[in-house]
Amino acid sequence: MGLKTKVIQTVLIFFAGISLVQADISGESLYMQNCMVCHADDGSGAMPGISDLVSNRSWSELPDELLLERITNGIKSQSSPAPMPPKGGNLNLSDNDLLRIIIYMKNEFQK
Ligand code: HEC
Repeated sequence: MGLKTKVIQTVLIFFAGISLVQADISGESLYMQNCMVCHADDGSGAMPGISDLVSNRSWSELPDELLLERITNGIKSQSSPAPMPPKGGNLNLSDNDLLRIIIYMKNEFQK
């Protein structure tokens, strides 16, 4: 392979990398689009029956993998009057999207 081809290839890979990063939607915007309607922008809960994820942070001690599983399958605890639908209702969310949301929530929802 000639040097010129190699340089062009490197430049192409570089820009492909940048566009991939830009296509990566942040955990914050994914949360706002898919979860905020029930959990409020600060996690405190947008309506009665939605657990306050700020004052009760026991969920945040669960490992990411377990939270991912719970969010994917939907959540219904004994004490809660309302269940959470699988993936909050958006089945198009990938594991990767959900993990990004989980990291966002763990970092942001603190008193
Ligand atoms: C339709 C309303 C609704 C939407 C949308 C929703 N949730 Fe929930 N979520 C709930 C309810 C209700 C609970 C409490 C369920 C229970 O304890 O039975 C809950 C609980 C949780 C918990 C606590 C988990 C635990 O193990 O106690 C987490 C974390 C969570 N939701 C994350 C999310 C994420 C991430 C999204 C967006 C992808 C989302 N939720 C979207 C209603 C919703």
